[in-house]
Amino acid sequence: MSDSKATLNFGNNSWDFDVRSGSIGPDVLNISSLYAQTGMFTYDPGFTSTASCESKITYIDGNEGTLLYRGYPIEQVAENGDFLETCYLLLYGELPTQAQKEDFVHRVTYHTMIHEQMTRFFAGFRRDAHPMAVMCGMVGALSAFYHDSTDISDPHQRMIASLRMIAKMPTIAAMAYKYHIGQPFVFPRNDLDYAANFLHMCFSVPCEEYKVNPVLARAMDRIFILHADHEQNASTSTVRLAGSSGANPFACIAAGIACLWGPAHGGANEAALTMLAEIGSVDNIPEYIARAKDKNDPFRLMGFGHRVYKNYDPRARIMQKTCHEVLAELGIKDDPLLDVAMELEKIALSDDYFVEKKLYPNIDFYSGITLRALGFPTTMFTVLFSLARTVGWIAQWKEMVEDPSQKIGRPRQLYTGAAQRDYTPIGQRR
Ligand code: SDX
Repeated sequence: MSDSKATLNFGNNSWDFDVRSGSIGPDVLNISSLYAQTGMFTYDPGFTSTASCESKITYIDGNEGTLLYRGYPIEQVAENGDFLETCYLLLYGELPTQAQKEDFVHRVTYHTMIHEQMTRFFAGFRRDAHPMAVMCGMVGALSAFYHDSTDISDPHQRMIASLRMIAKMPTIAAMAYKYHIGQPFVFPRNDLDYAANFLHMCFSVPCEEYKVNPVLARAMDRIFILHADHEQNASTSTVRLAGSSGANPFACIAAGIACLWGPAHGGANEAALTMLAEIGSVDNIPEYIARAKDKNDPFRLMGFGHRVYKNYDPRARIMQKTCHEVLAELGIKDDPLLDVAMELEKIALSDDYFVEKKLYPNIDFYSGITLRALGFPTTMFTVLFSLARTVGWIAQWKEMVEDPSQKIGRPRQLYTGAAQRDYTPIGQRR
């Protein structure tokens, strides 16, 4: 990773800054001394050109449509691995040996239950509360129960907290779903694998035996893999910023869940399905394409476009393939929403507006159709995203906490408000 220099010339001054190269991807201009040297800040709302940290976890090449988990292409990980193996890879940097994997799976399995007293929190929520609101509350509340894994300076406690988060998210998510539909909670089972256990907790009822469909469980597991991590996206950056203050990992993950909820981010899968249902039929597509292009219309094609991908999101391709597998397994021959989605994609990808702005389907475009076919209501879609993304959040949080150079995140601003002025007594105000 070669280092070189860049020079900034402004007025009669010039300043040198280090340029650092990563193992792959764009170089970075180290401007951490810019303010001290020049008295100026950089200005980059939305951080379109700002690297907030150094990381070894996930790499995205937006132009190529590449996504690597610790160097392994998402296509290969999704095809050949499973979600808990992916969790190990993201957390520890290498694919596990057979023995390492068995040990990791065992440790996660034996952390899937939540403190029984936590179940009482649910009674405080309205049944029709959005499950994401419940997730924010329940995950934040883990801090109130697991004091023995909140000391972030203790590597053992960091490891326990990581395992607890990965293990308990499916249990909490399934409980949020069951509470939402008025059915009894279902305990996790140690004889089922991660995805099968989650489907069982969501869809089994005490009145009869529930057999998990292995094809659907494999599809669920692959969906978790696709959503596991994605570099410094909004919710991951939220988790890092919260963690930079020394907040405990459960509180940081709750912050990430809150951020992911937004329709521009993880909430897009719910919004995309709602949009497809609103479009309703392929005949209505031209009207919605026109609306998406109309600057005066706030409507956007949900599930389209991405801050980084200016090519097809590689996860969307795998998601589309998984969608077809699930529909075929369930014998769903003609899903009108899938027809609309495929026609919408075809039209959009040949429309100059979308081509020029490099707007392609992202992971959220097909995930909604798949999750609905699996039996989830749209209100649960972002919950599933947060379940899968928890390992990415935790891995990035762990990397930050263990980075000796990390310090509290504290951006500055371009101030355009009132200059200093004296207080005016109320009687003298006009
Ligand atoms: C996720 O960051 C991540 O990695 C996120 C994620 C992850 O795994 O963590 O990948 C998950 O959040 C995927 C994105 C899901 N969101 C959506 O599908 C919502 C719809 N998409 C857009 O809101 C938008 O594309 C964003 C928010 C995803 C990206 O927005 P940017 O990078 O800020 O781009 P922009 O809003 O500046 O758009 C650039 C141009 C604009 O036109 P101009 O002002 O330049 O004329 O493209 C237009 C936008 O109006 N545009 C769209 C559009 N997305 C962008 N026009 C119509 N429909 C769209 N979907």
